[in-house]
Amino acid sequence: MATDRDYVLGTHEQELARLGLQHRVWRPVTLDCWQRAGIAIGKRVLDIGAGPGYAAIDLAEIVGPTGEVVALERSQNFIRAMETTCRTRSLANVKIHELDLMQDELPRADYDFLWCRWVISFVNDPSLLIKKLGAIMPKRSVAIFHEYGHYETWRFFPRLPMQERFRQHVIATWHESGGEPDGAAHLPALLAENGFVIRSARPHIFCLQPRDYMWQWPATFIETYLERLIGMGRIDQKFARQVETDLASAEKNPNARMLTPLVLEIIAEKL
Ligand SMILES: C[S@@+](CC[C@H](N)C(=O)[O-])C[C@H]1O[C@@H](n2cnc3c(N)ncnc32)[C@H](O)[C@@H]1O
Repeated sequence: MATDRDYVLGTHEQELARLGLQHRVWRPVTLDCWQRAGIAIGKRVLDIGAGPGYAAIDLAEIVGPTGEVVALERSQNFIRAMETTCRTRSLANVKIHELDLMQDELPRADYDFLWCRWVISFVNDPSLLIKKLGAIMPKRSVAIFHEYGHYETWRFFPRLPMQERFRQHVIATWHESGGEPDGAAHLPALLAENGFVIRSARPHIFCLQPRDYMWQWPATFIETYLERLIGMGRIDQKFARQVETDLASAEKNPNARMLTPLVLEIIAEKL
């Protein structure tokens, strides 16, 4: 059975903090998407692969005490963090289930929405997951996905050869762990097969300069995932320092730009 340790990005404290930064950087896009999709007071939202609950907590505040968020997550470390935040914020409307999306039965309820972000790339059978979601989401509920659609869009101008080698290691390790970095590419067909009709699909891609807040999102990923790649024995310290040096040179160059990995937003309705 897969464990926290097997999950390719890890569930350690540094990753927990990185997911927090990632959520804050993406928050304006996410809030806009949720509003367009219709998430509002009193709604019931299923959050799958919720991580430490950064989105779940925001959702719980939006839907309020008359609504509910049901968060599904496998990592005990992330669940503990989510429980602590709910306690400190006095949020009583988050129901947390510790489970494996692939192996366990998913809880049924009268959900209005499904929120799934950066999960499809990391499960070993996305078609099984969408099938399970198709079976539990009620008619006329809305499923929202933010998933990578073309990871190789992530690059710098001027080019950083070491970042491109690093990116290839990322893609290879996600594949080796059973995932699919461009998971969103399969979603339109999988959703159609399981009773969903796509209402909108739009790419989110950004061209950043070093002083932009969002720059820190891929930059902190490089920092944490280099350590992970060293731990996996895929790269050595020298490789890691070269990637860091490349990144530092881009950060000192006000004319440098970074294109982010493409995230595809899909909003689909269950028929
Ligand atoms: C990249 S994180 C994204 C977390 C969160 N959705 C967010 O947007 O911040 C992927 C999450 O999916 C969870 N996950 C991956 N495979 C899972 C599985 N088979 N069952 C349950 N959770 C899983 C991981 O533990 C991790 O918390």
